[in-house]
Amino acid sequence: MAKLVCIGDFEVLAKKVLPQYAYDFYASGAEEEFTLKENCQAYNKLRIRPRILCGISDVDLSLSLYGEKISIPICIAPVGIQAMANPMAEKASAQAAQDTKTCMVVSCMASATIEDIANTAPNGLHWLQMYIFQDREFTKSLIKRAEDSGYKAIVFTVDAIIHGRRWRDLRNQADLVPHLKFGNVEGPNTDDYAVNVKSIIEQAIDWNSFAWLKSVTKLPVLIKGILTAEDAKLAVEHGVNGIIVSNHGGRQLDGVPATIDALPEVVKAVEGKVDVFVDGGIRHGTDVLKALALGARAVFIGRPVVWGLAYQGKQGVSDVLHMLKEELKIAMIVAGCGRLSDIKPSLVVKESFYSHLP
Ligand SMILES: Cc1cc2nc3c(=O)[nH]c(=O)nc-3n(C[C@H](O)[C@H](O)[C@H](O)COP(=O)(O)O)c2cc1C
Repeated sequence: MAKLVCIGDFEVLAKKVLPQYAYDFYASGAEEEFTLKENCQAYNKLRIRPRILCGISDVDLSLSLYGEKISIPICIAPVGIQAMANPMAEKASAQAAQDTKTCMVVSCMASATIEDIANTAPNGLHWLQMYIFQDREFTKSLIKRAEDSGYKAIVFTVDAIIHGRRWRDLRNQADLVPHLKFGNVEGPNTDDYAVNVKSIIEQAIDWNSFAWLKSVTKLPVLIKGILTAEDAKLAVEHGVNGIIVSNHGGRQLDGVPATIDALPEVVKAVEGKVDVFVDGGIRHGTDVLKALALGARAVFIGRPVVWGLAYQGKQGVSDVLHMLKEELKIAMIVAGCGRLSDIKPSLVVKESFYSHLP
């Protein structure tokens, strides 16, 4: 096997080892997959303006999130049902996150239980991603289990109360559905995965639902799935502790902007009152650099973790995190940034910045 030199190489290998329905489940986006592609392509429309002679030979990538120190601003996004990629599923990802000293957001739709994931990586930093289930007592019980297992934050995902139409999954449904088993939630009991999810998750959620979620935990609560300044402002008004600018990896509403394009308006709207994060389409260290320059405190990666996991379990996830870390390090050094705080908004411009040259 040739040496893996970029995140794309992991996807090629993962595709080789995964059954088609599993690869499609992880890779797919909603409908035409316009937003899915745009998440990556939008990074190519940004240009870095590097500074020189800054006297930098090494970089410090560490930061603290809600009082917990991590070693890189690259964290693991919640991705459900990782058992289709590897039998160790989220436990392997959690171990890799622990070894890398970064944060992993565990999906409430994980294959493994909240407790097993925490126990397998006892020194790791775990947050729990939640939906509000129609059974509110059950919702509370999952949060309590996370608190008892040492999870440090709750991430409330607000953009998936109903599933987007993912054409690849719809075509593969007969192969896919038997493999969708959840660790913490009653598994699908109809033949239609999307219908099943819709039947257990509360649909008509609003700001009162958020207030309720906040009232049942002492942990910081972040909202994942904000794409507008209007909602970012409302979130701050309602006491959110952090915002993840996300379009669910292009899996929900095809036609929404790339997250990196939505990030600046959200950052501006919150006026530094809470941390803002971003996920979606991050495949290079330079993507991370651009996201941080545009105001993200840290980024989250979804599919690259799955590709590493499918290819080589925990080692594969560690390799993915390590590769992005090394790429970010090099990008920072060459761009003249020794610390994360050196990454300023002026480091990045839209490509149109250069289109008015004489
Ligand atoms: C297969 C798959 C499953 C996902 N499951 C969840 C989930 O259970 N909860 C959630 O909030 N987001 C989920 N997401 C969205 C991710 O958290 C994240 O927003 C997205 O993957 C980021 O884009 P990227 O894959 O391009 O890095 C899932 C994404 C994928 C690809």
